[in-house]
Amino acid sequence: MASSLEPIVVLSLVVGVIAAVIFAGVLVALIVFTLRYRDVRTGSAPQIHGHRALEIAWTAVPLLLLAIIFVLSLVTLGQIGQGATFGSLEPPLHVDVIGHQWWFEFRYAGAVTANELHIPVGVPIELDLSSADVIHDLWVPELGAKSDVVPGQRNVMRLFTARAGTFSGECAEFCGLEHAWMRVLVVAEPRADFDGWLAAQRAPASGAAGRGLEIVGSAVCSSCHVVQGQVAGTPIGPDLTHVGSRTIIAGGVLANTADALRAWIADPQRYKPGALMPKVPLSSADLDAVVAYLRSLK
Ligand code: CUA
Repeated sequence: MASSLEPIVVLSLVVGVIAAVIFAGVLVALIVFTLRYRDVRTGSAPQIHGHRALEIAWTAVPLLLLAIIFVLSLVTLGQIGQGATFGSLEPPLHVDVIGHQWWFEFRYAGAVTANELHIPVGVPIELDLSSADVIHDLWVPELGAKSDVVPGQRNVMRLFTARAGTFSGECAEFCGLEHAWMRVLVVAEPRADFDGWLAAQRAPASGAAGRGLEIVGSAVCSSCHVVQGQVAGTPIGPDLTHVGSRTIIAGGVLANTADALRAWIADPQRYKPGALMPKVPLSSADLDAVVAYLRSLK
């Protein structure tokens, strides 16, 4: 990992300095001109017309500055696009990211998860972005990454972090009613931990058999959810194979606790109006059984 600053940080600093200098210049000029050229009788200064040199100057200077920023941006885009910032010899890890109204799906080779993107530290990550419905935008500010997620188009976003930790991300393109609740957690962990996590995610579900599995396997839940090895449903909503291992549900509206999960299933529209998940009438005992089953899907 290079110890120097990321190209995108350098670009931000350069643009920031240019903007600060212009801001300071305008502010000073404003104060000087206000004090020096104020006509105390009329409250206004004599107007200037047709000053060719001035007009050329205030057209050419901004043009030149914008041209410089444009070229610097192109150079930076190229550096990021080629993965030059990674400085890592490891081959990139590919993850398919699919935007849905309103949650993110993450597909690894052999495993599918939702809301939480696990990545190994020190390994370049290549995210293949696509959308199941409308235009979304995946943004993880702390990792310096942001890209539109467009239906019918494959966008690639590269991530890299040398720092273990949990980073918050969100959808950054208005995509409907619950746009604000389309969050992600990026969990960056050492390679060994990540490999262990991925191996667990690849394993088929080992949920407790019983009433809970019976209900989730019924037409209502399985018309949108899959539990690998236990419920052969239609993968419209989040894959639930290891839902018990996640920390957030419903795009981040709720923490993945037993109480929150129960409340969510009892009435999804109360917590996320407009979400595709309908309210399914279940008796209190059945609700408990479903929650217990889902919690057992570690
Ligand atoms: Cu998805 Cu905003």
